[in-house]
Amino acid sequence: MKVLGIESSCDETGIAVYDSDSGQIWQRLYSQVAKHREYGGVVPELASRDHVVKAAPMLGEILDEIGGIDAIDAIAYTRGPGLIGALMVGANLAHGLAWALDKPLLGVHHMEGHLLAPMLADEQPELPFVALLVSGGHTLLVDVRMLGDYRILGESLDDAVGEAFDKTAKLMDLPYPGGPELAALADSVTQSRFEFPRPMTKRPGLDFSFSGLKTAALNIVKQHAPLDDRLRAEIAFAFQQAVVDTLCIKCKRALEETGYRNLVVAGGVGANRRLRQVLDKLGQVQGTRIHFPALEYCTDNGAMIAYAGALRLLHGQVDDPACDVLARWSLETLPVIPA
Ligand code: KG4
Ligand code: ZN
Repeated sequence: MKVLGIESSCDETGIAVYDSDSGQIWQRLYSQVAKHREYGGVVPELASRDHVVKAAPMLGEILDEIGGIDAIDAIAYTRGPGLIGALMVGANLAHGLAWALDKPLLGVHHMEGHLLAPMLADEQPELPFVALLVSGGHTLLVDVRMLGDYRILGESLDDAVGEAFDKTAKLMDLPYPGGPELAALADSVTQSRFEFPRPMTKRPGLDFSFSGLKTAALNIVKQHAPLDDRLRAEIAFAFQQAVVDTLCIKCKRALEETGYRNLVVAGGVGANRRLRQVLDKLGQVQGTRIHFPALEYCTDNGAMIAYAGALRLLHGQVDDPACDVLARWSLETLPVIPA
């Protein structure tokens, strides 16, 4: 089955086709980063308009590669969570195609797309597993008993981890989106004179809080202004170290509490080199298998939506054509994907 996947929940337009028989993927990805940079963050209305401009031509290119529109068997799109106007652009394209072609249609949960992205690699994580989902909008620890059967073990009570990276980068005058910039700066040094707290690690539980780290960074920036390059790098190093340690402590706790031996890490911050290193080490010490998506599938993309959609569409799960996009949507409400 060839499934078209359309991702438009934020500032990336992702169009992909996943062939469930061969595993082959055709994809296009367009990032609007340059458009939003001058505003220091995503401007929702500009995001929606850019999706309108880019999505159809990108789809046309992929259809040329797969031999035309008739090669598509079903259509999946990101139904939520995300920016409502941006989601509507992808949803309208998907609904229009499904209606015109008379093909099955399914709205995919964006975070399930991230969660399943490691499975685009050959290696399939063994069930059950713990998933750490770390993106610009979410920080979630999830108990994955079966695919589609999700229980939230912990989440951020304030900023998502990617958001904390981006905000901290911004207060150090790094260009948007600051996460990868801050990470590169942190990796340019091997130590720091600063030490940030590891929030909410001293008390039991699996929730997170990252807004205090941003405030800690702000205080240091104010005390030491104007910042030179070395100071900037040391603040980035201490911040990244605190985030990575905190995530690692909570992952270890979640694995101990569930007794599971597999950890899946996904979402944009899953591209962080230091996080990958530290979690790999945890895996070696604990005898846990750690699964990451390929770097190209960490941040938003159409392939993960086509893949997640295919798993459900293959079991006959389809949507009512009248269903709406959802700015907020809990993973816990999804139906199970039969084994
Ligand atoms: O999953 P994603 O592409 O979009 C959302 O669903 O939010 O994640 C984007 C987030 C941004 O906050 C970005 O700064 C962060 O992931 N990010 C990183 C890295 N690469 C992307 N944060 C830290 N280190 C990185 N290497
Ligand atoms: Zn995402």
